[in-house]
Amino acid sequence: MASRPLRLGVLVSGRGTNLQAILDAIGRGELNAEVSLVVSNKPNAPAVERARRANVPVEIYKLEDYSSRLDWQRAIVANLAGRDVELLVCAGWDKVFDREIFKRFGGRIINIHPSLLPVFGGGLHAIEDALRYGVKVTGCTVHFVTAELDAGPIIGQSAVPVLPGDNVESLAARIGKEEHRLLVEAIQLYGEGRLKIEGRVVKVLCKDA
Ligand code: GRF
Repeated sequence: MASRPLRLGVLVSGRGTNLQAILDAIGRGELNAEVSLVVSNKPNAPAVERARRANVPVEIYKLEDYSSRLDWQRAIVANLAGRDVELLVCAGWDKVFDREIFKRFGGRIINIHPSLLPVFGGGLHAIEDALRYGVKVTGCTVHFVTAELDAGPIIGQSAVPVLPGDNVESLAARIGKEEHRLLVEAIQLYGEGRLKIEGRVVKVLCKDA
């Protein structure tokens, strides 16, 4: 890969399997990127340990340590910007952003969500909701983040069948595999400058376009 690696900020709150997929893809030379900073709002999230094991910078920002949401976001933004982060990846981040983040990173934030948006968006229990509703197909979506929750322009989606006997764990495991592939692909496409947003439609440009 000839070009300079894309500088990523990765925001995590949980297990960090998507972060791991990014780190592994970089390690295998399949993703031309580097993780400049991992930010977690949960000190004990397994994702934090994954970052440490991979020797990438990781910092904890607990909302309750700040006098307001705004101060908390400003502190995170300052750190990311100081490291020249080019793309912000929400990889299991359980908080919603407002103004400050968009002012600085608007159009440069992506998120992975465990459903085929726009269905089962807007919360942290999309897999449970899909099972309870009885859909036969669900999946995952990578999308640009906008001020409207889970409603930004869609970069990619992958469908996953709901099998008889599925429970949250079994379905989440199959969705997770697709998430990891889709998220890495989306970051690589972004780094290659191949994602063009037109209104709410994301066009994926051919390699030589
Ligand atoms: C994933 O299902 C993702 O879609 C959602 O949160 C989960 C994070 O998983 N936003 P992990 O922490 O990457 O393992």
